[in-house]
Amino acid sequence: MLSFRAFLAELKEELSSPELDLSTLDRLRAKYLGRNGLVNKSFDSISPDEKKAVGPEFNQTKKHIEDLLEDKRLRLLEQSDTAEFFDVTRSGTSFPKGSLHLVTYAVEEITKIFERIGFIRMSYPEVEWEYNDFEALNMPKGHPARDDFETFFVEAEEDPQLGKMILSPHTSSGQIREMLRVKTPPMRMINIAKCYRPNWDVSHVPMFHQFEGFVIDKDINITHLKGTINYFAKEFFGEKREIRLRPYHFQFTEPSFEVDITCGVCGGTGFLSSPSSRGSQKGSHLGENDNKIKCKLCKSGWLELGGSGMIHPNVLRAGSIDPAVYSGWAFGIGVERTFMMKEGLKLDDIRTLYSGDIRFLQQF
Ligand code: DAH
Repeated sequence: MLSFRAFLAELKEELSSPELDLSTLDRLRAKYLGRNGLVNKSFDSISPDEKKAVGPEFNQTKKHIEDLLEDKRLRLLEQSDTAEFFDVTRSGTSFPKGSLHLVTYAVEEITKIFERIGFIRMSYPEVEWEYNDFEALNMPKGHPARDDFETFFVEAEEDPQLGKMILSPHTSSGQIREMLRVKTPPMRMINIAKCYRPNWDVSHVPMFHQFEGFVIDKDINITHLKGTINYFAKEFFGEKREIRLRPYHFQFTEPSFEVDITCGVCGGTGFLSSPSSRGSQKGSHLGENDNKIKCKLCKSGWLELGGSGMIHPNVLRAGSIDPAVYSGWAFGIGVERTFMMKEGLKLDDIRTLYSGDIRFLQQF
């Protein structure tokens, strides 16, 4: 198949000639980039199918040649002593603008939302002791709940008390570290860090981020938990979204809840608007929703955000906090998952975020 690389090599050779001057440069431009120049002519000579295949390389080569010629032109102008050649109106060389990764923006936004209400941002280690991820969170060795956090083990010496070193499968280990750091409540932390689990599909990547909200003080109860998550949801997703707490089970909280948020696609109804009025005539036996289309994203009006609950007394004790005096709540939510639930994003595969495809990232 046709390759344009040879032209680049040839041009570079010609540009390296010590005799090169501005008029030769014009000739080289015509030779390579002119309507009947080498690049266009060879592109014209191939079949439409081939054109499709080499199209991107064709465009890149033209751009590359353009850059090489321009670069050389500027260098020649600089070297010439005719100062009047300096064109002050010419725009400067512009470089492609970089940006932060989408997940970094999401992490920044989440951080700001919680800092506004007095939370301290922490980032606890990604390589963590088994003890902080499990035992201290009320999941002793052999407990089946540990299976939910499939784990990458690190080849390192085992500690007799703290166990093996692992890639932390969740940010909840930060709870223990924060209690031992601050020692005396009140504590209000948002721990945002990378987590690792060996999964790879449309909604899982082996490295992802979680944010762990965590509060301990006297007289802390579930209403504070719900109020805080509700505040977050409105700030991050907008006023229209509602949350609910659904009873669930986690070893490190009692009681425990899953946090759900109304779906941004169907507005929390579970249905998209009806395409026809068939079946809705008087006398029909169909129910109100029978002729509506189910929302494909949520199927029920609700999307799962993460887990939460009131911190288990055993966890408080592991952090040297007296559960008779203090109480607290915690939640853990996936950053990427949450970010994908933003209205209008229409991102249906989490792996796209980490594909490294600049065309995707440039859209934001
Ligand atoms: N660590 C849990 C997970 O990764 C999420 C979680 C659930 C965090 C309940 C919490 C909590 O703080 O209270 O699945």
